[in-house]
Amino acid sequence: MIQRINQFVRRLPAWPIYLLAAALIAWHFRQALSGAYRPDPVRALEWEYGRLALQFLIASLALTPLKRFTGLNLMKFRRALGLSAFFMALAHLSVWLALDMQGYVAQMLSDIVKRPFITVGMAALLMMLPLAATSHDAMIRRLGGARWRRLHRLVYALAPLVALHFIWVRKGWQIEPLVYAAIILLLLALRLPAQNRPAPRRPGNVRAA
Ligand code: HEM
Repeated sequence: MIQRINQFVRRLPAWPIYLLAAALIAWHFRQALSGAYRPDPVRALEWEYGRLALQFLIASLALTPLKRFTGLNLMKFRRALGLSAFFMALAHLSVWLALDMQGYVAQMLSDIVKRPFITVGMAALLMMLPLAATSHDAMIRRLGGARWRRLHRLVYALAPLVALHFIWVRKGWQIEPLVYAAIILLLLALRLPAQNRPAPRRPGNVRAA
C-alpha cells in the first residue's frame, strides 16, 4: 500500500506548495486590508505570517521521521516546504519593517538589541539565509553532499530558536508556543540518528532541510 502511495507521490509536482505559500501570504494581507483583523491588523498580520513560517518549517522537518517510521516518502516536497518557510519568515519580517516600524531605523536597531525575542528571531532568520541560498542543485553540486549536509545541520539550531522566539513573544507560559516547541524538539530528536548516514553520492539526491 505504502509503495503505491509513494509511486503516486513521485508523480506529483512540488510547485503547488509555493503557490499555496504565495496564496496564504496574499490572503492574509487581503484580510488585514479588509478590516477583518481589527483592532490591530499589522500585529495580526505579523502573527499570521510568523505562525505560518513556523508551520512550514515544522512540515519540512517532519518528512524525514515520517519516511523512517512509516515508509511514506514525501521527501520531494522538503525543499519547497523549507523555502516556503523562509519566504513566509521574510513576509513576517517585512511587515515588521515596513508597517510596524514604519522605517524608523534607529528604533528598529534598538529593538533588535534591546528586545531579546527580536534578537532571537533575527538570529533564526539569519540562519535560514544560507539554507535557502544553497537549496538548489547547482549549489549542492558546488558544495558537495557532505559539506551541504553539514551546513544544513543549522536547522538543528534555528528551529529551537524559532520556538524560543514564539514562547518569548507570548510572555508567560502559554500552551500554543509550548506545543510548537515540544513538536520541534520531538522532530529534532527523531532525526538525530540520521546524522550517522553516509553523504549522498549524487547531488540530485540531496534536498533542502
Ligand atoms: C528578523 C527576524 C524576526 C523579527 C524581527 C521578528 C519579529 C516579531 C514580532 C515583532 C512579533 C510580534 C510580537 C508582538 O506580539 O508584538 C513576532 C512574533 C512571532 N514570530 Fe517573529 N520575528 C522574526 C523572525 C521570525 C522567524 C524566522 C519565525 C519563524 C520561522 C518567526 C515566528 C514568529 C511567531 C510564530 C510569532 C508569534 C505569533 C503569535 O503570537 O501568534 N519570527 N516576531
